[in-house]
Amino acid sequence: MGWEFQLPTKIIFGRGSLSRVWENVDRKKVLFVTGKSRFREEPLGRIKKQLSNAQVSVYDNVEPNPTHQNVDGGVEVIEKEGCELVIALGGGSVIDAAKLMASIAVNKGKAYDYAFQKKRIEKKGLPLIAIPTTAGTGSEVTPFAVISDKEKKLKAPIRNRQLFPKVAVVDPELTASMPAELTANTGVDALAHALEALWSKKAQPITDYLALRAAKLIFDNLKKACQEPENMDAREEMSLASLLGGMAISNAWTCAAHAISYPLTINFGVAHGNACSLTLPEVMEFNALRSEKINRITQLYGPEKMRELFKEIGLKTRLSEFGIKKDDIPLIADGVVASTLETNLVEMKKEDIITMLEKIL
Ligand SMILES: [Fe+2]
Repeated sequence: MGWEFQLPTKIIFGRGSLSRVWENVDRKKVLFVTGKSRFREEPLGRIKKQLSNAQVSVYDNVEPNPTHQNVDGGVEVIEKEGCELVIALGGGSVIDAAKLMASIAVNKGKAYDYAFQKKRIEKKGLPLIAIPTTAGTGSEVTPFAVISDKEKKLKAPIRNRQLFPKVAVVDPELTASMPAELTANTGVDALAHALEALWSKKAQPITDYLALRAAKLIFDNLKKACQEPENMDAREEMSLASLLGGMAISNAWTCAAHAISYPLTINFGVAHGNACSLTLPEVMEFNALRSEKINRITQLYGPEKMRELFKEIGLKTRLSEFGIKKDDIPLIADGVVASTLETNLVEMKKEDIITMLEKIL
C-alpha cells in the first residue's frame, strides 16, 4: 500500500528564532492572539518591536481548553480591525484557537458550527504564524484545533488541512519559564503524540521515523527538563520532540489515548497531557498484545518504563487522584471521541475502555 505525507508549514527552529518573526510578516494589519500568562509580555514586546510598521491588535481572551466563544471573540476583532495576518504566541490552546480564528474570518460563521455541527472549512484562512511557548502540543505543525463547549461539556477536534499554520517559529528559549508541572504535562502530551502516531491506522514510514525520534528524545530529556529548569539543552531537545511529534500526528493523527482524554478533561478538569498519559501505558499494552508492530515498539519503550517516567516527573497516574470514582467511568466511556478512537490500529470497544479505566482507578 502507498502513502502520502503533507506538511505545508514552513518551520523555523532554534534558540533566538523569535527574532526572525518579522521576516514572515508581509501584511500591514496583524492580530496577535495570546493567553493571559505574565510570561507572554516580554516576547510580545519583542515581536511588536520587529513590526513597527504594522498595525497590531491584541486578543488575549483565550482560556486553557479554548471555547468556541473564545474563537468568535477573536474573529470579531479581525473583522473590526481588518486584520490580514494572525500571529499566535502561546501553548496549544492559544494556537488551536488562533487557527480557527484565521479560518473563520474567511469562511464566516460561528466556531460552534465547525466544532460540533459538522460545518466544513472550505477556504484557506488568513495566514497564521504559530509560536509555541510550551513543548508538547505540536499544534504549530498540525491541521487540528480542539475546541470545547464548557456548558454542554463537549470537547472535540476539528481536522482540516486548511488549518495548517503558514509558519511555525519554534524558539526553545520561550519554554524556559515553564514551571516543572507544565513541563511534565506538556512533555507527556508529546510522548502521547509520538506513540499514538505509531499505533495509528494512518501510520506510514515518514510518521514512524518522526515518532520514534520524538519518543527517544522525550525519554532522554523530559526528566532533565523537569528537574533542571535552566537546562537549555534539555529544553531544546523537548521543543524538537514536540515538533517531531506534531509532524507525526499531522499525518498519522492521534488514537485511543487522546480519544479517552477529552471527557477526562472536560468533565474532571484533568490537564490535556496528563489526561493522555493516564491511559497511555494501558493503551500500549492493549495494542501490543494484538499488533506485532506495536509489540516491537514495546521492547523499546514499554509500559513499565513509561509508568516509571511519569512517577519521576510527578504526574498523577490514577483516576482516583482526580476525584474520579468507579461510578464516573460510564460517563467517561460515553464521552470518548469516536472519530479519534477510530484511528487506533487495533479495534477498541467500549467494554475494553471500561476495563482499562477500571484498572487505573
Ligand atoms: Fe495532544
